[in-house]
Amino acid sequence: MDVIYLYIPFFFLALLLSCSIVFKRYKREPQTRTKLPPGSMGWPYIGETLQLYSQDPNVFFALKQKRYGEIFKTNILGCPCVMLASPEAARFVLVTEAHLFKPTYPKSKERLIGPSALFFHQGDYHTRLRKLVQSSLSLESIRNLVPDIEAIAASTFDSWGGSHVINTFHEMKRFSFEVGILAIFGHLEARYKEELKKNYWIVDRGYNSFPTSIPGTPYKKALLARKRLSKILSKIISERKNKKLLEKDLLGCLLNSRDEKGVVLTDDQIADNIIGVVFAAQDTTASVMTWIVKYLHDEPKLLEAVTAEQRTIKKLNDEGNRQLRWNQTRNMPISYKVVLESLRMASIISFTFREAVADVEYKGFLIPKGWKVMPLFRNIHHNPEFFSDPWKFDPSRFAVAPKPNTFMPFGSGVHACPGNELAKLEMLIMIHHLVTKFRWEVVGSQSGIQYGPFPVPMHGLPARFWKESNS
Ligand code: HEM
Repeated sequence: MDVIYLYIPFFFLALLLSCSIVFKRYKREPQTRTKLPPGSMGWPYIGETLQLYSQDPNVFFALKQKRYGEIFKTNILGCPCVMLASPEAARFVLVTEAHLFKPTYPKSKERLIGPSALFFHQGDYHTRLRKLVQSSLSLESIRNLVPDIEAIAASTFDSWGGSHVINTFHEMKRFSFEVGILAIFGHLEARYKEELKKNYWIVDRGYNSFPTSIPGTPYKKALLARKRLSKILSKIISERKNKKLLEKDLLGCLLNSRDEKGVVLTDDQIADNIIGVVFAAQDTTASVMTWIVKYLHDEPKLLEAVTAEQRTIKKLNDEGNRQLRWNQTRNMPISYKVVLESLRMASIISFTFREAVADVEYKGFLIPKGWKVMPLFRNIHHNPEFFSDPWKFDPSRFAVAPKPNTFMPFGSGVHACPGNELAKLEMLIMIHHLVTKFRWEVVGSQSGIQYGPFPVPMHGLPARFWKESNS
């Protein structure tokens, strides 16, 4: 026994020494191995979901960025995420190392759009589909759409005059839906258009609702409407196949595509991509156009300058009894800057989601395989380092091109928006009609934002429009 007691101090000494060796190793470890980004994972299971959803998401992201810097981790809806708030980090994920990050969407949303829509994919299938969508939305293709988009603007806005209050966002959705249909099908028979509209509206309502198969719920109704959309689309597709036309619209591009083995796309693949494009085109463009109406309303001097620019064009066209032309839409410098500044200010796509397909190291931090990765476009667009006085609506800032990778309203890299030129064209034509034909006042609260999921002015910007007497 006595001998054992003699050994006790040595035992503790050995324990202390081994602990210090372990401790030193532990301390040294982060220097030799990559560590997770800073940040808090919040509560078990729910993470920081409540913090994100109980406040303005901009505040959530801005506070995090202030505290942790350009890269930080969090946990949203049980998913560990890495958020990236710098142009370099966004470029890393979306462009230079895009192959390490795949697009990721909840299955419930994928079922509504259709699993073959290009934005769910990566690799060869995505590249093939993307080329087709891009070619149908290229400058060469959309320049021919100007008269038709103008006609859609004229007929959509025709009902605006009078004393009734209009939900601006709702009207812009009608407009962007019609333009989307035009880009996809060219001139589509009215009965098909009506059927598509009726059912797409139900899908649209169910898209952000709780996903459940309980009959009567918005999600279940949306699933049923989606099935009906497939049937309508197959009818349209088979009619087009029978006609054997070589149209340049999206449907034409999809129908005429053959892969290297000569294999054509299936009707389901075509339908999923058509619904995908309608979905990608409608609320996005409508949200920005609603913001444009608000920003112009709030800035009378700017509205004056935009109106003068558009009136000059209209006067010229009226004198020659002509319609708006493509070249004129390419020469609206003030209005174009308003479009760019609206895209920046509203940043309606605040961020996007990817998932790491492998462990990835970025600036000494580990992004583990399977984690969600979110480049935060809005934080970049509202960072005073890149855009001085970022909360001020100032289109003149676009007299100088923004620094590289700091302006990404349409994303960047392999999944960047192929509809960006069409969206801008649509906005310019909308501005042309708006300011040359109408005056307007916003009704009710002039501030506040609602997220559905894109940010739009509260209640869709209720407004009263008056037709200008000389319009
Ligand atoms: C102001 C309007 C619009 C905005 C702000 C916008 C924004 C975006 C953004 C940020 C992305 C990339 C998303 C990501 O990387 O995860 C995207 C992708 C896409 N957009 Fe747009 N978009 C607009 C209008 C349109 C229009 C008018 C169309 C078609 C007519 C369209 C079709 C698409 C498609 C098909 C994709 C997926 C591309 C791919 O995955 O390769 N978008 N859009």
